Amino acid sequence: MKRIFAANWKLNKTPEQAREFLIQFKNEIFKISHFFDTREVFIFPQAYSFEAVSTLCAGTSIEFGPQNIYSQSSGAFTGENSAAMAKDLGAKMALIGHSERREIFKESDQVLNQKALHVESLQMTSVFCIGETLQQRESHQTLPICFSQLDQGLAGVSREKRIVVAYEPVWAIGTGKVATTQQVAEVHQAIYDKLEARGFKDFQILYGGSVKPENAAELFKVPHVDGFLIGGASLDVASFLKICLA
Ligand code: PGA
Repeated sequence: MKRIFAANWKLNKTPEQAREFLIQFKNEIFKISHFFDTREVFIFPQAYSFEAVSTLCAGTSIEFGPQNIYSQSSGAFTGENSAAMAKDLGAKMALIGHSERREIFKESDQVLNQKALHVESLQMTSVFCIGETLQQRESHQTLPICFSQLDQGLAGVSREKRIVVAYEPVWAIGTGKVATTQQVAEVHQAIYDKLEARGFKDFQILYGGSVKPENAAELFKVPHVDGFLIGGASLDVASFLKICLA
């Protein structure tokens, strides 16, 4: 199975900065033979930089998708993002349920489920994020929370189609506090067992939360860590590339 390196640029990178990143990144990976034989790269740019990313990724193996979508393709939904329009620009996937969407924008499990079903209806892949807050971890709610987010968020989603789940402990995002390999191992194993028991046939599980060049190799030793969802460290070509090569 190929390892996945997903860059979540959040509300960063102008179209020009996105172009600069990709020109430099492509230059670097073209020097590395068989780079994509063992890796997949996903880029999640901000909406206004989407077309720049689409143009620069055309004809390459770099995939990309929106950070957030609405559960309908078009209509009177001022301010929303269309997955169908992103698909038109070449997107094959969409990020759904990032903790910043859940917390800051109050997206519920039901809303996220509609988004996941919509993405599936467009023959696109969801990169579906789950994870507990510090308070939930401290009150031993980590697994129940993750399971409930999975069960509700993926209700009715096809077991036959590919799904990517990103486990991101909320307390590890952007804080520099990475989960220990033991914590990651416990949750990834539990998610793996859960998805398998639910009948999902084609799934990968990413870890996210302060992934850096310094900790990537260690995290990769953990069973069922199939790749990373990377925020801060994906903004810089050198650090993103180092993680890809970890
Ligand atoms: P971080 O963000 O790598 O900056 O912690 C990860 C994410 O939010 O996906």
